[in-house]
Amino acid sequence: MNHDRAVSRERWNARYRKGDVTWADEPVEFVVRSISGIPPGRALDLGCGPGRHAIYLAAQGWRVCGVDFSEESITIARERDRCRGARVEWVTSDVLDLEMPAGAYRLILISYLHIPHSELVRLISRCEHALERGGRLIVVGHDVANIREGTGRPRHKDVAYTTQLIADALSRCTVVHAARRSRPPDHGTSPVHPVDSSEPGSAAPRLQIDTEVIVVRDAAGYRRAPDSLRSGSC
Ligand SMILES: C[S@@+](CC[C@H](N)C(=O)[O-])C[C@H]1O[C@@H](n2cnc3c(N)ncnc32)[C@H](O)[C@@H]1O
Repeated sequence: MNHDRAVSRERWNARYRKGDVTWADEPVEFVVRSISGIPPGRALDLGCGPGRHAIYLAAQGWRVCGVDFSEESITIARERDRCRGARVEWVTSDVLDLEMPAGAYRLILISYLHIPHSELVRLISRCEHALERGGRLIVVGHDVANIREGTGRPRHKDVAYTTQLIADALSRCTVVHAARRSRPPDHGTSPVHPVDSSEPGSAAPRLQIDTEVIVVRDAAGYRRAPDSLRSGSC
């Protein structure tokens, strides 16, 4: 692990020690919708934090590995999982150092893993190789628009997402969903709303603006994303 990531890991450990976890325990609705109907197989949750998605997936019958470089988050996740039946394999590792066997996973999830763009691009490229045929990569996190128009962290554009960034990181898979969505801040189960539906000038509290992308490794083998989707249209 390089110096910057070691520093970042210590910051995350300190946050977890202080109990500074500002997001919900429940899985994000987009993740729940995106896996609905997929027959369970092997799944990888990269930057799993305290494990809300990994634990949810395991409860749906998936064989899940949750990975995070923060020992503190893995301890919390393990404990939560133990209370619910201890089904997830928890791994303390930097996601960029993780061995990902080729063609091994039906599902890979990256949720709110805000790392520098060059690292995210490298990670996504490795995920493409690790998907089985027909397998899906689901990416969700704060959109760059969230910095000016939304609410919550992170506040730096060099770690915020865009659909374009993720589509451009792909060389082998197909984008089947790419959107920017606003929703109430991540502390509950409220429904999502398309960004364009908000009333101009309304006094409503600020929404959280997310990037959502679903990528599929085509059943017939690798294929490039169509240009219309690679441009990150919302
Ligand atoms: C905002 S939390 C999101 C947790 C979880 N994915 C969720 O949606 O609830 C981001 C997590 O990414 C982890 N993380 C950040 N950079 C990482 C890296 N390079 N390798 C592994 N984990 C990392 C942090 O420790 C933290 O737990």
